[in-house]
Amino acid sequence: MTKGKFIVFEGIDGAGKTTQIELLASKLTAMGESVHVTAEPTTNESGKALRRALSSKEKKSECEMAAMFVLDRIGHNAQINELTDAGTTVISDRYYYSNLAYQGMSTDYAWVRKMNIDCPEIRRPDACIYLDLTPEESLARISKGRESVEIYENLEKLTEVRNAFYTAIEDLRGDGEKIFIVSANRSVEEISDDIFEIIRNL
Ligand code: TYD
Repeated sequence: MTKGKFIVFEGIDGAGKTTQIELLASKLTAMGESVHVTAEPTTNESGKALRRALSSKEKKSECEMAAMFVLDRIGHNAQINELTDAGTTVISDRYYYSNLAYQGMSTDYAWVRKMNIDCPEIRRPDACIYLDLTPEESLARISKGRESVEIYENLEKLTEVRNAFYTAIEDLRGDGEKIFIVSANRSVEEISDDIFEIIRNL
C-alpha cells in the first residue's frame, strides 16, 4: 500500500490556514484520497495543558512551553504515523515550524531546533505550505470584528514572528525540506488552486 503524505500548514495569524486546509482536504477527498485533518496543539492531554498555558490559566516559563510543544508533537507523531502508514494523507494546522518561530524567538533557537529536528520520534513533513501575509495585512484581518487583540497581535510582534518564520524556513530549506511560501493576500480560490498544484506535484 502507498503511504499517505504528511502536509503541514503554517502562517501568522489571519493567514487563512483553516479555510485553505479545508479546501485542500475536500479537493483531495474528491480525488478519492483518504484525508485526515489535525492540528497542534493537539486535543491530547499534552495539548490541553498547552491551551491552559496559552490562555494564561496555568502560567509556564518560555522554556517549559517550548518543551511542552515538543512533548505534544511526539505524541502527535505516533498518531500521524499510524494514519500515513495506512495510506491516509494527514494535514496539520501548525507543526515544528511554529515551535522554531515562536519559542525559537522567546528561548534559544538552536535548542528548540535540536529538540525537534534531532528527535527520532519527530518526523519531517513531506511538504510545508507557509501562507504568507505582511504584518499589516494580518493585523487588518484579525482586528476585523474583534473587540480586543491578543498578545501576539500587534504590528511589531507580527513582524518579529514573520521574520522568525522566514529564518526557520531558510534554515530548514537548507536541510532539504520542501517548504512553499504561498502569498495569502489573494482570493481564496487563487490561493487554493496554487496549493493544490503544489501538492499534486509532490
Ligand atoms: P491556536 O488558537 O490554535 O491559534 P491558530 O488558530 O493561530 O493556530 O493557538 C496556537 C498557538 O500556539 C499559536 O499562537 C501559535 C502557538 N504555537 C507555538 O507557540 N509553538 C508551537 O510549537 C505551536 C505548534 C503553536
